[in-house]
Amino acid sequence: MVNVEKSFVNNMFSVEGKVAMVTGATGALGCVLAKAYGYAGAKVFMTGRNEKKLQALQDEFEAEGIDCAFFVADPQVEDDVKALVAACVAKYGEVNILAICHGYNKPANILDQSVEDWQFIMDADCKSVYIVCKYVAEQMVAQGKGGKMIVVTSQRSKRGMAGYTGYCTSKGGADLMVSSMACDLTAKYGINVNSLCPTVFRSDLTEWMFDPDSEVYKNFLKREPIGRLAEPSDFVGFALFLSSEASAFMTGANYDCSGGYLTC
Ligand SMILES: NC(=O)c1ccc[n+]([C@@H]2O[C@H](COP(=O)([O-])OP(=O)(O)OC[C@H]3O[C@@H](n4cnc5c(N)ncnc54)[C@H](OP(=O)(O)O)[C@@H]3O)[C@@H](O)[C@H]2O)c1
Repeated sequence: MVNVEKSFVNNMFSVEGKVAMVTGATGALGCVLAKAYGYAGAKVFMTGRNEKKLQALQDEFEAEGIDCAFFVADPQVEDDVKALVAACVAKYGEVNILAICHGYNKPANILDQSVEDWQFIMDADCKSVYIVCKYVAEQMVAQGKGGKMIVVTSQRSKRGMAGYTGYCTSKGGADLMVSSMACDLTAKYGINVNSLCPTVFRSDLTEWMFDPDSEVYKNFLKREPIGRLAEPSDFVGFALFLSSEASAFMTGANYDCSGGYLTC
């Protein structure tokens, strides 16, 4: 008898009925993933610092029948994050999926950058990941049903770049944190923790790189076997996979989400 359950295969990619918390939900990747969770039948709990944008997202999603809510919080402020988790539990009773999609960069040569500016990037991209994961993990452990955590980091977590001593270091730290959290949380508590490492995805900040006549675009394509830069929807399938039971055996990893950037 071949040992695989039909019901498992039919449902393994489902996030239906799960409660998915999305940080940076106001951003290019976060808003697309939040809506995708909603379309997939999850209850979506969005967070960010910009109340106006969060309210607009809630209005848009609810008009499409998505069950969602938001809470304004800064992910690097411990009290904000405690209140965020409490608000999600008050609204939906639990947290099953965490997708960390917030992030920040202010590139500067180390010779010109202040220590304060470097620390700001570290706090926005690394300390915040620790704080959000810590308090969501506490909640997931208390629920006793496992969970899924997906942290969006960057291809810059694995290689340096001029002006990126803050960003590369913080994203590299977040990737290693993901691997360490998996050691703390997966075997004992059933919480899978993985990161997705994107290259250039279209956003307000990266729009200028998408000009096909620009040198930046042409140079990027030399290293992109996929033949184009990425749209936010390009990472949705991978993120949903890591949020579902189909990825039950995957934890502690930093997954390439780059159109093959590493291959040439
Ligand atoms: N787009 C890309 O090409 C690309 C490439 C590699 C990696 N990434 C990473 O992928 C994630 C999502 O990228 P994205 O393109 O969606 O970014 P984005 O559009 O710039 O949005 C990120 C969100 O993060 C929040 N944020 C900004 N500064 C913050 C700070 N100092 N502290 C806390 N939150 C802050 C903002 O929400 P609020 O203002 O509402 O708080 C913003 O909407 C980020 O971690 C980014 O580094 C993106």
